Amino acid sequence: MTTQTPNLQHSPAWRALQEHYGEMANVGMREFFAEDKQRFEHLSLQFKDILLDYSKNRVTAKTLELLRDLAEQADVPAWIERMFNGASINSTEQRSVLHVALRHRGSGSFEAEGNDVMPEVREVLQKMRDFSDAVRSGEWRGYTDDRITDVVNIGIGGSDLGPVMVTQALRPFTAEQPRVHFVSNVDESQISDVLTQLDPRTTLFIIVSKSFTTPETRINANTAREWILRSAPGAEVLANHVVAVTNNVSAAREYGIDPQNVFPMWDWVGGRYSLWSAVGLSIALSIGMDNFESMLHGAYEMDEHFRSAPLHENLPVTLALLGIWYVNFFSCQTQAVLPYDQRLHRLPAYLQQADMESNGKSVDRQGRPVDYATGPVIFGEPGINGQHAFYQLIHQGTPLIPVDMIVPIESFPTVPQHHHMLVASAFAQAEALMRGKNEAEVREELEAAGMPEEDQAKLLPYKVFNGNRPSNMLVYKALTPATLGRLIALYEHKIFVQGVIWNINSFDQWGVELGKQLANQILPELDDNKKVTSHDSSTNGLINYYKKSRK
Ligand code: F6P
Repeated sequence: MTTQTPNLQHSPAWRALQEHYGEMANVGMREFFAEDKQRFEHLSLQFKDILLDYSKNRVTAKTLELLRDLAEQADVPAWIERMFNGASINSTEQRSVLHVALRHRGSGSFEAEGNDVMPEVREVLQKMRDFSDAVRSGEWRGYTDDRITDVVNIGIGGSDLGPVMVTQALRPFTAEQPRVHFVSNVDESQISDVLTQLDPRTTLFIIVSKSFTTPETRINANTAREWILRSAPGAEVLANHVVAVTNNVSAAREYGIDPQNVFPMWDWVGGRYSLWSAVGLSIALSIGMDNFESMLHGAYEMDEHFRSAPLHENLPVTLALLGIWYVNFFSCQTQAVLPYDQRLHRLPAYLQQADMESNGKSVDRQGRPVDYATGPVIFGEPGINGQHAFYQLIHQGTPLIPVDMIVPIESFPTVPQHHHMLVASAFAQAEALMRGKNEAEVREELEAAGMPEEDQAKLLPYKVFNGNRPSNMLVYKALTPATLGRLIALYEHKIFVQGVIWNINSFDQWGVELGKQLANQILPELDDNKKVTSHDSSTNGLINYYKKSRK
């Protein structure tokens, strides 16, 4: 493995970018568009049905060249190969990172710790196919011989967000039955709201937990089991109603899940990268295995593009470098994801985990604290709704917030009046963010409206938009399983490239541990009514207030 430059900020490529930033900080994008009438053609990329227009960014050809120098300096192409070759790039957990193997469609092999993982991957895909076909066709039945009408996925984080996002996104591809529901939160209201609609005789649970130790998932799984057994003749009925997806197969068996009903996954798949594995079983049940495999195929195509396209034509690399430009040189701390596609309404939440759990790190691969910013805060909502909520801040607030807009050419069903309004809004927002509205333009507008000069002067500062606010536009034909696969893989690889440049491990998540440990200490303290004094005064105060106030 190559050694990273000890201090990224003093490296030649970084310093060149820093110097260039000085030239760029106050240059407006309007000028770029005036100078280059073909800026759109020059700064857009197409891969299959996905167009990336990145011309509305505060970049010139020189910026892009310097950013690519940074990628070369960080050895991005070699890191891509390391990932695909199964090197232990998740260094703190000494694991390969092979979610790309899960969607590999060729005949090649993928090795983790010297073993080809593809035979097992194919075996589990076949098991998913057999099972999902059996449930969907009605061959798999509940203990009363009734058909399964509802499936409940119990899992949290990566064992929930991907399947939720994808099943929502691909609604037009779902069968009427089984209906798929999701329970993630330990808040009992979620599971009881789901269960009240269902009949235990026709419900199937999928317990999804890579570790099979996640307490939230185990509690929900217990509640589900009790719910089934309440009206069942005996525990043997569980074999018809509960399956599990896990890397901890023995724990699932101990828990009482029929070994036949356990779908394995592997430690070389991170939870937030796992929807391509049997973690996606709820997706397969919902859209069918052929559609699930189309999604894998789309992701595979993006993998091949990522692996083979030169940096200047590479979509994930381009998105990653633009992100670095804003985070590290413009000091942007946030990134908005704005799908103009209602079916992608859970994409921002999904990407929050993918990006923030991956790149929310402050120690580099050599164990040293970093002295530069890493992963930004990801947030977002579907396009038009966001416009009527938080876009004010993106247009006129003090922070600079780069945005990704994600727009379909067609939606299902396409009702032109609706769809034109949606698309027009997306394009208009990006134009407004870029152009803004200067004083002269505001004055002209107010004058045309007949406003007296004195009033104009008062209102003018509020009506000015500085513009020069960056956006990427991702436009795709329609949200098919393959396109969605490509889109998700695009973001996964973007996140990876940024982690490589920041010299951090994007594949561990030690930061989630401390809160879990402390919750385990607090939990037994809630059992009685004794006063607690073992924490700081705020935590003691809250625990004691809770104990005193509860019924
Ligand atoms: O607490 C965070 C986390 O470990 C995520 O990384 C993971 O996706 C989630 O919890 C669920 O973990 P598991 O699949 O092991 O239940």
